[in-house]
Amino acid sequence: MLTKNFQRVELAHTPTPLEFLDNLSAELNGPRIWVKRDDCTGLAMGGNKARQLEFYLGDAVAKGADTILTTGAVQSNHLRMTIAAARKLGLEVEVQLEERVPDRKPEYYDSGNPFLMRLMGAKISHYPVGEDEEGADDALHRRADEIRKAGGNPYVIPLSKNHRPFGSLGYVKCAEELLLQFQQESLQIDGIVLATGSAATQAGLLTGLRAMGSDIPVYGFCVRRDQAAQAERVFNTAQRVSKMIGHEGVVVSSDVWVDDRMLHPGYGRLNERLLAAIRLTARCEGLLLDPTYSGKSMAGLIHLVTNGHFTRDQTVVFLHTGGTPALFGYPEILQSKLD
Ligand SMILES: Cc1ncc(COP(=O)(O)O)c(C=O)c1O
Repeated sequence: MLTKNFQRVELAHTPTPLEFLDNLSAELNGPRIWVKRDDCTGLAMGGNKARQLEFYLGDAVAKGADTILTTGAVQSNHLRMTIAAARKLGLEVEVQLEERVPDRKPEYYDSGNPFLMRLMGAKISHYPVGEDEEGADDALHRRADEIRKAGGNPYVIPLSKNHRPFGSLGYVKCAEELLLQFQQESLQIDGIVLATGSAATQAGLLTGLRAMGSDIPVYGFCVRRDQAAQAERVFNTAQRVSKMIGHEGVVVSSDVWVDDRMLHPGYGRLNERLLAAIRLTARCEGLLLDPTYSGKSMAGLIHLVTNGHFTRDQTVVFLHTGGTPALFGYPEILQSKLD
């Protein structure tokens, strides 16, 4: 096991199912499409963050932390699941909501993830800027100092890119799980498609696959920043996590595939291709995507398929990273022109 030297707490329901999407595959008339159901990791409605949190909280518990601090968007799945994890482990938790998405409806602030955050009773603060990762982390560290002065032992899960990427270890571990499932199902996989934001998932998966000797391409669809910036972030994170697991240099820059064509008009904002992807997947498969992450990566997969990037005799895996509670923060999904 590549991650055996790291502290971990069990939070995620794993292995998550690997399922064939026969209706969607037939509808798109392209490759066979399978889905890795990381929307089913448990922990207050699931998602990719459960695997990442296993290692952050493993580190936090090992250090005797009593309070977890982290930051994210108002509809952040990471915050929802961090709160759930802290509650499960009996820890205090404080989250900081950033204003990242302009022109939102009241449901964005009241329903979906922020509703669940309040339900689980986290202490919530606000940070007025959405694109200031260092500033947001600094605010967490200032709050951590206050907690320390009051005799507590805080643990910060940072957002900015220059920290030890414990979260990526969750996807190194997932790579091992996937390769075993491919073997059990006798599958030859030609690509894995996912949403890429902080880069922890893509960097971890890529590192895990390469460290296990697999050259399966990982297609990351950008949800947060343009592809030049994202490629650099994925590569740098992969270098750090490769080093952590003792496989330095296992990921090379040509391994990093990212595409920002589905990002428009920006993080957490809707576009027609995303809406079409959410609708098609719901109607073909009863499979629910989200407007910020998995909807955009599915739009990307559909784009690759309809443009002939994959042939009919190939097999691809859509990594469903979760996020479905955010559907309830975007009532206009049902009012789009597509109906
Ligand atoms: C549902 C969902 N999918 C994908 C991502 C992106 O994953 P990562 O931040 O590891 O790149 C996130 C991150 O917040 C997410 O919440």
